[in-house]
Amino acid sequence: MKVLASAPGKVTLYGEHAVVYKKPAIVASIDKRIYVSCKTRDDNSVTIRALNLQVPGVILTYSQDGEIIFETDYGRVLSAVSYIKEAISLTSQFLGSFKGADLTIESSMPVGAGLGTSAAVSVATVAAYSKAVGYELELKDIARLAWSTEKNVQGIASPMDTSISTFGGIVYLTQENDDFNIEHLDIPSDMNVVVGYVKRQFKTKDMVELVKRYREKYPDLIDSVIDTIGNLVVEAKKALLKGDLKYAGELMNINHGLLDALGVSTKELNDLVYIVRAFGAYGSKLSGAGGGGSMIALVDKEKVSDIKTAISILNGTPLPTKIGCEGVRIEKAEE
Ligand code: MEV
Repeated sequence: MKVLASAPGKVTLYGEHAVVYKKPAIVASIDKRIYVSCKTRDDNSVTIRALNLQVPGVILTYSQDGEIIFETDYGRVLSAVSYIKEAISLTSQFLGSFKGADLTIESSMPVGAGLGTSAAVSVATVAAYSKAVGYELELKDIARLAWSTEKNVQGIASPMDTSISTFGGIVYLTQENDDFNIEHLDIPSDMNVVVGYVKRQFKTKDMVELVKRYREKYPDLIDSVIDTIGNLVVEAKKALLKGDLKYAGELMNINHGLLDALGVSTKELNDLVYIVRAFGAYGSKLSGAGGGGSMIALVDKEKVSDIKTAISILNGTPLPTKIGCEGVRIEKAEE
């Protein structure tokens, strides 16, 4: 059987990093997706083809003597492939049945830019593979298997990215006893966010470890920053449900300051975060693990174009983005 599944990327509205320490988070799916196709084989081999992963940071350098150097980040491509391998292994263990398969992965968003692509790869692979080998998994099972995939590949991961990629929408995520719960938030449709990204030098795993080490060094200080982020997320939920975008924006600004205090922002991200405020955003913050990567701005509809210009001025790449899109889905299934 041949199945094509897709799963969306995400932006974190509030609460990344603190969510690793079981604090709540508010996260939204975006209209950019990872596509995984899976065709079962007659033998036990698995092949993986990575096409068009839009890896950011491809560099072309040429010198006076005409030498051309082309650098790309194959590490990111390999990293995407390791999530697929682990997702297949965990899904076949869960189903109690293994079949060889040919997999192909494509992306409509830059991979490794902090938009939750590794989670989307894991979710889409679990969905495509399980369906191709003849099973209909519940969404909660897809989310759990994809979360375990991320934990196994990265060493540590919260259920945030894999949950939003599975369920889609705009979600308030809480955690208890090694499990998670999601609440879909009904947020005014006129809420606009603009995403911008810069080249990212570090992986999510590196950034999560950086916070872990900082916390070991300054336990009380870092725990109080993490607690404050958790409290702020509870407030942000109220602000969003009331449609109070000014307050929601201020809470984003505070969240960014606290992430910077955790050591996960960079000068390039800070520059983008501040310039969009000067151009009239309600608020802005880095989104995702940091160390480069993505930022988001909460903006009025009329300001969207100005904010994109502001991001470009400082060499960020603006990404036109709708939030609250559908979660994992089967695009096509044929015998
Ligand atoms: C990465 O998108 C979000 C982090 O909170 C890590 C995680 O939740 O696993 C930094």
